[in-house]
Amino acid sequence: MLNNKETSELKRRRVIMNRMRMFLIAMSGLFLTIGMITVFLFQTQLKEKETDIPTFYQDVVEIENPASFRALVNKNYRLPADYEPSDLVLLGVPLYNKDKNNEANYLRKEAARALKNLFEAAYNEKGYELIARSGYRSYDTQVMLYDRYVKEDGVEAADTYSARPGHSEHQTGLTIDITSDSVHGGLTETFGETDEGKWVAENAHRFGFIIRYPENRVDETGYQYEPWHLRYVGTEAATSIYNDQLILEDYVLNVMKQMSVLWD
Ligand code: DAL
Ligand code: ZN
Repeated sequence: MLNNKETSELKRRRVIMNRMRMFLIAMSGLFLTIGMITVFLFQTQLKEKETDIPTFYQDVVEIENPASFRALVNKNYRLPADYEPSDLVLLGVPLYNKDKNNEANYLRKEAARALKNLFEAAYNEKGYELIARSGYRSYDTQVMLYDRYVKEDGVEAADTYSARPGHSEHQTGLTIDITSDSVHGGLTETFGETDEGKWVAENAHRFGFIIRYPENRVDETGYQYEPWHLRYVGTEAATSIYNDQLILEDYVLNVMKQMSVLWD
């Protein structure tokens, strides 16, 4: 037989046990809820990240500012087929192709001047000799080139290194492929590992150029790493892109949008 003292002690313990059970249930519920919210937020973020990257060559927009130094030309934004820059000039720097009538030796005036300054700085500051290989490219030239690459390598491979007609920055007259004797005038990833290539990557922004297709953003640009492909955007944009390790898409679609100067 339990005495009164023992009975009330038992009751007290039962109450404590019940409270602990309730507490544990409440805590489990809380952790479960926190877990579910975390998973939900994580998935939402993942989805947002996925939708940040557009599907290439779908919902393509024809740009309205082809002559802007910050015109965004990529697999989703294309130039009008008949766009030709009005101020192309012959480059005043060492040329890979000696034919002065070759369109590849031309850039828009401001970009040509900036390139000369870049090449002169490379020489004066370091003794590096750079060579201009492929600048302006008309829509028709891009048709011919892209078709040839598709025949040689198939569409999927060609799309990793060649723009479809209307989608090449070379048509803007603001883009130049450069090289050096150290890579035998080639357009090769090795250029990025040469002293000249490294100097260009670190200094091009001072003259308004960016490395348009960096090694770490292939999924977003849609192109292989091209340490030789420089795009003129002006010193302000180039410096911001260099300092913050951006690509032109980030700059035009985020930074410029925040500054409300989209499509200047
Ligand atoms: N190689 C670059 C992506 C072009 O074709 O414009
Ligand atoms: Zn190029």
